[in-house]
Amino acid sequence: MTKKLISATDSPGAVGRLVWSLLAEGAERARSPWHTAVLSTVSDGLPQLRTVVLRRVIGQRRLLMCHTDRRSPKAGQIGASAALAWLFYDPVHKLQLRVSGQGRVLDDYDPLTSEQWHRSRVGSRRCYLAPLAPGTPCDVPESGLPRAPLTGSLTREQSEAGRVNFAVVACEASTMDVLQLGAHGHLRLRLQWTAAGSEAGWVAP
Ligand SMILES: Cc1cc2nc3c(=O)[nH]c(=O)nc-3n(C[C@H](O)[C@H](O)[C@H](O)COP(=O)(O)O)c2cc1C
Repeated sequence: MTKKLISATDSPGAVGRLVWSLLAEGAERARSPWHTAVLSTVSDGLPQLRTVVLRRVIGQRRLLMCHTDRRSPKAGQIGASAALAWLFYDPVHKLQLRVSGQGRVLDDYDPLTSEQWHRSRVGSRRCYLAPLAPGTPCDVPESGLPRAPLTGSLTREQSEAGRVNFAVVACEASTMDVLQLGAHGHLRLRLQWTAAGSEAGWVAP
């Protein structure tokens, strides 16, 4: 039997707080089902989806962040259209979360970019050393990783060369749609933040 995280006796405010704490846990804990998400950008009017790792959540600022290669197509797409959407699903608790908001690729000199780079593990930095930008056509199958001498274990010092390609995508959430599946009926809550304030209410699933 599924252990539900949200029940009909919860207040909308309590659900909102729970969701932000689950997101924070998703960013911190690799085993959390919300550690990875599907992130959607818009390109030429079409949605573009991909899996990303949720790297940091700042609840007070409603910020969700992931890391990416500054040269990647998604970075360009976010520059052209700030509209972002995230999709999370916890299959154990049967809890779906959809988030949408305005995103930005943080500047190289933004303090959060430096903080996230310093927090990142050497192993995760390897991809930022790739000489080819993500999506570059290749004549042969290509891992994109650097040739020797960086093929073995990478030192922290060597990994610093990847900083130039490293970027943080930060999204300020403006809506959330929470869906708790249940054998005896689903529950769905919508949260919204505008300049006028925040709203939260149950909607039909
Ligand atoms: C489990 C998983 C986690 C991933 N995490 C990231 C990530 O955090 N950042 C990222 O840029 N790409 C990540 N990727 C790769 C993206 O899904 C995508 O293939 C790549 O970033 C190119 O996307 P783009 O062409 O839209 O820029 C991940 C892929 C998988 C399968």
